[in-house]
Amino acid sequence: MNEELLNVVVRKREIQGDDVVVLDLERVDGEWLPAFDAGAHVDIHIADGLVRQYSLCGDPADSSVYRLGVLKDPASRGGSVGVHETLLEGRELQISAPRNLFPLAAQAQRTILLGGGIGITPMIAMAHALKQQGADFELHYCGRSRSRSAFLDELANAPFAAQVFTHFDDEGPQQRLDLAAVLGHGKTGTHMYTCGPAGFMDWVIGGARQQGYAEDHIHKEYFQVEVDASGDSFEVVAARSNKTVQVAEGQTILDALAQVGIKIEISCEQGVCGTCLCDVLEGEPDHRDVYLTDEEKAANDQILVCCSRAKSNKLVLDI
Ligand code: FES
Repeated sequence: MNEELLNVVVRKREIQGDDVVVLDLERVDGEWLPAFDAGAHVDIHIADGLVRQYSLCGDPADSSVYRLGVLKDPASRGGSVGVHETLLEGRELQISAPRNLFPLAAQAQRTILLGGGIGITPMIAMAHALKQQGADFELHYCGRSRSRSAFLDELANAPFAAQVFTHFDDEGPQQRLDLAAVLGHGKTGTHMYTCGPAGFMDWVIGGARQQGYAEDHIHKEYFQVEVDASGDSFEVVAARSNKTVQVAEGQTILDALAQVGIKIEISCEQGVCGTCLCDVLEGEPDHRDVYLTDEEKAANDQILVCCSRAKSNKLVLDI
């Protein structure tokens, strides 16, 4: 996947809440950036070989600037720490054009947005878009505490401020998120969207299922997953390269392929972005990503080689 990158500059940078850096990126040449839809993300090229995806959290009607919020995660493998330490005001960098794996459904009758912590970022862009459409929606922002949360001023002053509800763990019970009440019964036409830490998302998604939401009305975007590389050894045949490699216990297919000189383009290395997608010609993948839909996983004709493994002894890939 060779795409043209955009040259941008960090025009403004601000630390908000507890370790969230909010960046405004503009094109170096002063031109407009490509338009984006709510829910889109960009690949940020932080340093050589270090590329991470972050949601755009500005108003999609304004493509003079891309706004991002990045939580510093000391346990990260360099991405968020790299953003915090190196993307200072005036720094030029390259980014991809926006891509959207988390789009708003067309013609929803009602929309419930549920953001946990830094997972609020795509929800802000969605709220702007829904407000402009005159849509019926609510945005719920959950966090550990008000003082640690970013974007509160922005949300309080947004054109959709009356539709924003905050819920903090360390404040009184009356403001806690009553998930069942907020979701209501999954009436036809109501769509819910969630992004945040995995535990928060599991709770919200479980609640939506309990309320009878159809699976295609539950929209989710994971930004952080633990990659489980455990499992038995298996063989991978790279059909077009005419090479065979044994993937050891605990090793990724990606690493095994690299050992025989087959380089696959990657980005997140967490089964989130889809960059490393390969076609499967033979064998049964053991899917461990959150990128493919359940239907795509069941088809067993594609695999994300940064994280998934094999249930069969052999996989033949079209690479
Ligand atoms: S590199 Fe992102 S899914 Fe594999």
